[in-house]
This record gives sequence, C-alpha cells and structure tokens, in this order.
Amino acid sequence: MNPYYAHDAVTLHLGEALNILPTLPDASVDAVICDPPYALAKLPTALVTNALTAWLSGHRDYVPALGAGFMGHDWDRFVPPPAIWDECLRVLKPGGHLLAFAGARTVDLMGISIRLAGLEIRDSIDWIYGSGMPKGKHQLKPAHEPIIMARRPPDGSLTATIARHGTGALNIDGCRTAAGQDYRDKCASVVGLGSNRNGDAYGEWAGIREDSAHDAGRWPTNILLSHGPACIEDGDCQPGCPVAEMDQQSGVRKAGERPAQRAGIGYGGAGRGTEGDRVVLDSGGASRFFPVFRYEAKAPTSERPRLADGTAWPTVKPLALMRWLVRLVTPPGGTVLDWCAGTGTTLEAARLEGLGVIGVERDRTAADLSVVRLAKPYAVGLFSDGAAS
Ligand SMILES: C[S@@+](CC[C@H](N)C(=O)[O-])C[C@H]1O[C@@H](n2cnc3c(N)ncnc32)[C@H](O)[C@@H]1O
Repeated sequence: MNPYYAHDAVTLHLGEALNILPTLPDASVDAVICDPPYALAKLPTALVTNALTAWLSGHRDYVPALGAGFMGHDWDRFVPPPAIWDECLRVLKPGGHLLAFAGARTVDLMGISIRLAGLEIRDSIDWIYGSGMPKGKHQLKPAHEPIIMARRPPDGSLTATIARHGTGALNIDGCRTAAGQDYRDKCASVVGLGSNRNGDAYGEWAGIREDSAHDAGRWPTNILLSHGPACIEDGDCQPGCPVAEMDQQSGVRKAGERPAQRAGIGYGGAGRGTEGDRVVLDSGGASRFFPVFRYEAKAPTSERPRLADGTAWPTVKPLALMRWLVRLVTPPGGTVLDWCAGTGTTLEAARLEGLGVIGVERDRTAADLSVVRLAKPYAVGLFSDGAAS
C-alpha cells in the first residue's frame, strides 16, 4: 500500500483505520498512542445498549449510524468499536502499551471497548488544564481529560517479555519530574533513558519508596498539569491556572533539610528511623510533585498547522504533552502507531523523540495538515530540548 506521506521514520496512510491496520504485520509496533473520537454526542441509554449488545454478540465493528459528536463532527459520533482495538492488539508487540485519550463522560465506554479487545487496562492518566469553558448553565467547567493506559498482555513474565520484545516497561527515568522545575527545564537534567532495563521500568528501579530527592527528579505521576494559556507570556500565572491554584492551596515550602530515613524498617524497606546523612528538601508548592507543561491547555496557535486557505483543526493536542507520553511508553528506537492521527501531533512528537511512527487518518484535510506540520525543519532532541519550541 502506498503511503500518503513517507519521510525518514514517519509514514502516514490516508484511509479508514479498519482498512489500513490489517495491512500492518503482527507484533510490529512498540506502542499505540491515539486521540480517538470521544463521542461527545447525546448518548441515550438505548444507543449504548445496542452497541454493547452488538459488540458482545460478535459485531465488533458496530457503531450507531445516527448522530454527530464534538462540534457536529461525524467522526466523533461514537467511540471506536472493539474491531479497531483488536487490530491495535494484533500489531502491538506483547507487553506493548496503548495510550488513548478519552472524554471525561465517555471514558467508561472507551475503556470497555478497549477491554473487549483483550488489552489490559493498566492505569488512567489525568491531564488537567485551565482553559476549558462550560458548554451550558448546568455543566461544570471542564478541566481534565483522562488518558487510558492499556497494555497487550506480556509474553510470559514481564522480564522475559522485555528481554524478547523490548516492550512491557515504562520509561520512568525519561519522564521524571525534577523538583522546582517545569517540564521544559527539567528535560535537560534527566539521565539514564533506556540504559538499564530492570524490572518494571526502563532505567534504574530504585524501589517503591524512593526518596523525593532522587537526583534525576521525582517518579512520574498519573496526573499531568498544564499552565493556563496566558501564563507563558508574562511569566506569572493567570487566574484559574491549575498550577497556581494548587500552589496557592498547598502553600509554598521553603528549602530545608531533614534526616535521611534508615532503610529496612517498615513495609517497603524504608522506615521511620534516621541515620547520619541529611536530605536536602526542595522548595515550592504542591505542583512540584507533578509533571507541569508550560503550554496552554489546548495546543497554542504556533503548534496548530494551517493549510494555505487558512483551514485549521479543532482538536490539536499540545506537542510537549505528546512528547512526554510517547517517551513514557515507547522503548528507545521503537515504533509508535497513531491510527487516528488528525493533524499529526503524535507523528511530530515521535519524530522529535527519535522514534519511528506510523499514522493513519481518514480525513484528507487533517492528513494535509499533518503534511504541513511535518514539512517544518526539525532536530531530534535528546530528552526533549525541542519541547521548548
Ligand atoms: C481528535 S482527532 C485527533 C487530533 C490529533 N490528536 C491532533 O493533535 O491533531 C481524531 C481524528 O481521528 C480521525 N479518525 C476517527 N476515526 C477514524 C478511523 N476509523 N480511521 C481513521 N481516522 C479516524 C478523525 O478524522 C480525526 O481527524
């Protein structure tokens, strides 16, 4: 099959995922990262029941024929059916991770569809932002989007899977949150990507109760924070910025010291005893415990590709966020698949992380926007120096 675009390690196919994915070989990608339709439409119970009944009785590609989703878009009328996730499972290597963005009110349905394909649900990452607007008088202000983290079951033990396929682990060291730094600054200080594979993580396994003063930064959390849109320009946070709100509520701790904990007491090997060395404590508010992205909640204008006639796309994801996610679940040198590529944010993110990437998109305008995006000059960044663009 001729791709719509192919350059260096990026390939983009134009077409329906259910037609394109079957052309990809079994166990040929290391991670699937996608931002699929959320089904932000009216979903009466009967519609959902029909879909579940169809899926459970073998019609794995069933989606209701009626309705339209986000901003009236036909592509958003329902969550992807299990048939799509069946293909994701097949092309993923054993142990390979899948990340799927979902809508806050339809994440249950997305999760069931993913589960029905046989993927293991491993976690749910919450991306928190400050620029959402309530769509009606009786709605809350939207401030988070869940990201489902699933995995193709390993091939035997996890250690054997990592040894055989290179997949199954998370790149903890590549995604640590350095104390007192925002995401862009900390990238330069992260060390050890993929060099030691030990247990559950690419990088050194330091134990569950590792100290917050770990040299390379804090263990990554399943909550990600974005600054508000206007925080970038003036250096101060705007009202409503989740990072500022959190720090205001927690208060700001001044730097200091405490005695080190003695190993070997209590569950997890770290206890309440103390020993000679002292641990230097960092300063800041509670936001320092989470990866913080210095970008507006939805992708800024500079990251939104435009066609010559001015056409843009409404659901573009921020590049730094996508780079962090890509890096978290893809082994070094691996290949990412995004079967609903939109304007190609995942493709650009994977390319900047030095990874191979395959995109599929059925809308020609969106595919053309990807091509515009990918025409930009780029340099592969070691731990995301390019995230500051
Ligand atoms: C939410 S958008 C993705 C936006 C993307 N994250 C970005 O930053 O530009 C979802 C995309 O999936 C595409 N899509 C939905 N279902 C698809 C399918 N079955 N096959 C191929 N593309 C699909 C839609 O055309 C749309 O462009």
